[in-house]
Amino acid sequence: MKGQIFDSNCLTLTRYVLAEQRKAPNATGDLTQLLNSIQTAVKAVSSAVRKAGIANMYGITGTTNVQGEEVKQLDILSNELFINMLTSSFTTCLLVSEENPTAIEVQMQNRGKYIVCFDPLDGSSNIDCLVSVGSIFGIYKKMDESKPVSQADALQQGKHLVAAGYALYGSATMMVLSIGHGVNGFTYDPAIGEFILTEKNMKIPSKGRIYSINEGNEKSWSNAIKEYIDLKKKPLSGKPYVARYVGSMVADVHRTIKYGGIFMYPAIKDNPNGKLRLLYECIPMAYIVKEAGGAASNGEIDILDIVPEDIHQRSPIFLGSSEDVADVLNCIKRCK
Ligand code: AHM
Ligand code: MG
Repeated sequence: MKGQIFDSNCLTLTRYVLAEQRKAPNATGDLTQLLNSIQTAVKAVSSAVRKAGIANMYGITGTTNVQGEEVKQLDILSNELFINMLTSSFTTCLLVSEENPTAIEVQMQNRGKYIVCFDPLDGSSNIDCLVSVGSIFGIYKKMDESKPVSQADALQQGKHLVAAGYALYGSATMMVLSIGHGVNGFTYDPAIGEFILTEKNMKIPSKGRIYSINEGNEKSWSNAIKEYIDLKKKPLSGKPYVARYVGSMVADVHRTIKYGGIFMYPAIKDNPNGKLRLLYECIPMAYIVKEAGGAASNGEIDILDIVPEDIHQRSPIFLGSSEDVADVLNCIKRCK
């Protein structure tokens, strides 16, 4: 209707997940409940990242609040929010967080069948300077429900994911989610406190013209990576690629999905496995990019085929438009 400001029938994230749940004949509603708890955590993290209530937190000036308590660091606060929301959702049995050295076993009386691996606030170097940061999560089912839960239950290949997603705290807050049938993006509307479907069935272009890598590490790249980046800057024909690197994986990957191109964190001299963590950075992002029609590799095999051995292990990663990923993989093969 002309002049109408409110959409009285908007598709919220909760509504979308509920509708998906109805399609599965034996669904219990547990995944819906679990995703709702993640939504709550993300809303709270978003509010904290945007410094809502800052006057309350700091008093008029200083770093202590009115009770004289030190203001909690954002990454610690985000981790507590994720853990508290997930353990009280009655849907999880095991949590792996970037912030906790060992996996968290959920108390017996609160347990459900899901395992969640998450990075509550990724992009640590960007937190204090107000550049975009994000949260990342991957959800698995416990393989054998008859056995007692242990850290090893989280060491599953990415191809077994039930769902994965990320929240980007950028110029707007957005949640991007895949439950195995494509990828959808939901933008947070603070006016009603809901995530609204704004990017239906997201698809990554098959080729882009942006490369994203920390070029400060060039000295310690392999010859293959040096050659590949050189070709992007000085192509034999056509225009050079554009360089973009935020330094927050969620922002760099989100841009890669939207505009196409490639995001890389290869092996470097001090770290033959690169920097990024397999369970809660590489695997969930690879799952989403692949669901959007792109590709993700560690340079040799598909990220989703890697069998994890340790909850905090790292992996090199090359992810993005399928043709761009194929190009870098060819370069790696050629230089062997
Ligand atoms: P963090 O978990 O400490 O935040 O590190 C992960 C981040 C990613 O978001 C980003 O892609 C990468 O580190 C950037 O690393 P670098 O500063 O080495 O380029
Ligand atoms: Mg991280």
